[in-house]
Amino acid sequence: MKKILVTGGAGFIGAHITQKLINLGYKVLVVDNLSTVGGIPYVNPKCKFIKGDITNATVIKKIENWRPNIIFHLAAQSGGESAYDNPKIDYLSNGYGTYMIAELAKKLKVKQLIYSSSVAVYGSKINEEINEKSSTNPDSIYGVSKFTGEMFIKQVLKKTKVKTVILRVFNTYGPGENLNFLKKGMISIYSYYLWRNKPIIVKGSLNRFRNFQYIDDVANIFVQTLRNKNLKKNEIINLTTGRITRIKDLLKILILENSKKKVKKSKIIIRKNTKGDSFGWNASNKYFKKIFPKFQFISLKDGIHKYFEWINKIPLKNDLKGYHPLDKKLRK
Ligand SMILES: NC(=O)c1ccc[n+]([C@@H]2O[C@H](COP(=O)([O-])OP(=O)(O)OC[C@H]3O[C@@H](n4cnc5c(N)ncnc54)[C@H](O)[C@@H]3O)[C@@H](O)[C@H]2O)c1
Repeated sequence: MKKILVTGGAGFIGAHITQKLINLGYKVLVVDNLSTVGGIPYVNPKCKFIKGDITNATVIKKIENWRPNIIFHLAAQSGGESAYDNPKIDYLSNGYGTYMIAELAKKLKVKQLIYSSSVAVYGSKINEEINEKSSTNPDSIYGVSKFTGEMFIKQVLKKTKVKTVILRVFNTYGPGENLNFLKKGMISIYSYYLWRNKPIIVKGSLNRFRNFQYIDDVANIFVQTLRNKNLKKNEIINLTTGRITRIKDLLKILILENSKKKVKKSKIIIRKNTKGDSFGWNASNKYFKKIFPKFQFISLKDGIHKYFEWINKIPLKNDLKGYHPLDKKLRK
């Protein structure tokens, strides 16, 4: 049976991937230091778990002894805004941490390493459609550290037999995000205000634009890399619907969805934008479609509807531990 390591497997995206791998019958080891930013930390009871930091050589040795054949590498300081609060942690986890994982992949001769990179590696690109050949010019601390991770993977593994897939993930949303954390996840942040019946605070222009992906689609794509025969030895793929949404249109969908609760009319307050926050990203998913020709993304409207089905079951609590969608509490 294949043994899969998921670094960051207790985080928002990693926990969903871990569950899907377990459902498919894989043996999964999750390594996570539980510093989760934005997600509700969730350790799947059916995986082997090591609480530890990927920058720590003793932790790496423990993984080596377990001998995974495949690695999904998601552990990272994952917040663009939080990177400014602690640039050292951001750079160590995302840069050096990825170097450690790449060296481990080389030593263990794993079959495949799948790395969760980010749209942030491109930097702000307002007037062009971003494809995988677009220039990488990160203009935020987080963008620099995620790109450093990509470069280490390339440098350490290019001349080995390890297949690498770098998925440049665009804004992901859905059940499992920590609604109380207001420094990561645009949709999660605006949803927090609706959940609490407060005015929505928007940092920056309503004309900013993004590509949004639903968590289930993102996790499915990661898992589908395992059997995808179209993948070449080293791949870089934009993980995006390719659909562009302006913040003002996103808010309309969110407010309409929330109005089903018959709450009072939502007010929007505009504040100064966050440092390092890009005005817009408009990505092409032409290459993605070539590699995953049959994949169908859920629409933003339907994704937000599913997201609110989960949100509406959560009590207005400050600590959402235990309210992860994969936890038993909210399943009924
Ligand atoms: N959520 C998004 O929209 C998005 C977009 C682009 C890229 N990404 C990338 O996808 C990955 C997962 O993001 P997420 O949204 O699930 O974030 P997350 O913060 O919920 O998950 C990351 C996990 O990594 C763990 N971690 C952090 N530093 C670590 C370290 N040094 N050692 C061990 N574990 C560590 C955290 O505890 C957390 O559980 C990250 O690599 C992130 O950069 C996410």
